[in-house]
Amino acid sequence: MGASRMGSFGFCIMLILGLILNESLLCNGGVTSSFVRKVEKTMDMPLDSDVFRVPPGYNAPQQVHITQGDHVGKAVIVSWVTVDEPGSSTVLYWSEKSKQKNKANGKVTTYKYYNYTSGYIHHCTIKHLKFDTKYYYKIGIGHVARTFWFVTPPEVGPDVPYTFGLIGDLGQSFDSNKTLTHYELNPIKGQAVLFVGDLSYADNYPNHDNVRWDTWGRFVERSTAYQPWIWTAGNHEIDFAPEIGETKPFKPYTHRYHVPYRASNSTAPLWYSIKRASAYIIVLSSYSAYGKYTPQFKWLEEELPKVNRTETPWLIVLVHSPWYNSYNYHYMEGETMRVMYEPWFVKYKVDMVFAGHVHAYERTERISNVAYNVVNGECTPIRDQSAPIYITIGDGGNLEGLATNMTEPQPAYSAFREASFGHATLAIKNRTHAYYSWHRNQDGYAVEADKIWVNNRFWHPVDESTTAKSR
Ligand SMILES: [Fe+2]
Repeated sequence: MGASRMGSFGFCIMLILGLILNESLLCNGGVTSSFVRKVEKTMDMPLDSDVFRVPPGYNAPQQVHITQGDHVGKAVIVSWVTVDEPGSSTVLYWSEKSKQKNKANGKVTTYKYYNYTSGYIHHCTIKHLKFDTKYYYKIGIGHVARTFWFVTPPEVGPDVPYTFGLIGDLGQSFDSNKTLTHYELNPIKGQAVLFVGDLSYADNYPNHDNVRWDTWGRFVERSTAYQPWIWTAGNHEIDFAPEIGETKPFKPYTHRYHVPYRASNSTAPLWYSIKRASAYIIVLSSYSAYGKYTPQFKWLEEELPKVNRTETPWLIVLVHSPWYNSYNYHYMEGETMRVMYEPWFVKYKVDMVFAGHVHAYERTERISNVAYNVVNGECTPIRDQSAPIYITIGDGGNLEGLATNMTEPQPAYSAFREASFGHATLAIKNRTHAYYSWHRNQDGYAVEADKIWVNNRFWHPVDESTTAKSR
């Protein structure tokens, strides 16, 4: 082999190496956090834990939780359980500014699941509330009555600041308790929680032991009784178990957790929308039919054009199974729903999509993958200024443990990922800007492990080049 041939051969090798290196630079994504959480077993808290304590007294109300009760935030659904007898489904409520006490009457329901019979589950909708007002409410009878309070949101409007907490896949482990505590003590005070599905994980117990639905209700009461949690159904809400004769999906969840789905013309409690302050929140169900012609598809098709960004600039979607996920868990489980709905999300400029399911944290760039039509080969997600930011926040801390195994190299669409438990907050400042931050449980309350200023897609549709900062 002559020297010149060696030279050209060497050049070719260099060129190929250069191309590979260049390709890896192009293909590699954002930051995989250097923080590595110690791998330890995630365990549920035992039944006699203090967080599961039954309130004292005969038939005392327990598992108290509230959620938004209409489309605009002037109503609240109050839910609780009594175990000894039905008791009263009435809520007594009064505003901080008024001594006049009002009454609202609710309804009571029960259900059976295999060999379990539920307590008396009460749901009562309080209507015609004033915006931006603190209300006290009292449930139960006599000396076991309990009083709580909540603050209604400001009237819907484009520049109304409002702060949401984001929690997913919470469960009832020792780590779940840490996540909830960190959320409660976060100096960025969340005013309502957007919960992205998988509540109690009762279905991990033999015969889906529904006692663990009750313990979960008591565990989270310290937050859910005082601020609305906006519910999304996850796979652990399905409770479909034909082997023990339980063939009605979502039975425990839909009996226990009511949502205002009729207010947004939905025909099922698994997909619906609300307006809250300056946000329009759409909740979808990964585990209900979403193909063309299905009720969920038709509802969403009619729903998206109704969103008036002049009134509610922030368009947020909650769904359990993520569409973009670079962990080796539940990989591509969200793909078929993405194929169905992603073109709409780009067309209607959804700001952010929050999902759970994967027990870790990840934030994407603004990307879309709508060009692919099977034959054209355009199957790589691309940067798209009209596309949402996708956040996976399934890191509440349930007993199934962390998702630690990531696809390598980090794909270009992934901006930041870390296998830790935690929660996030989204602080909407005005129609153009919101401050988003994620907080891992290992740190002190003031530490934000990932943070980003989010520009609104409708009012501020182009990002500055370096708004995303992570560490
Ligand atoms: Fe899940």
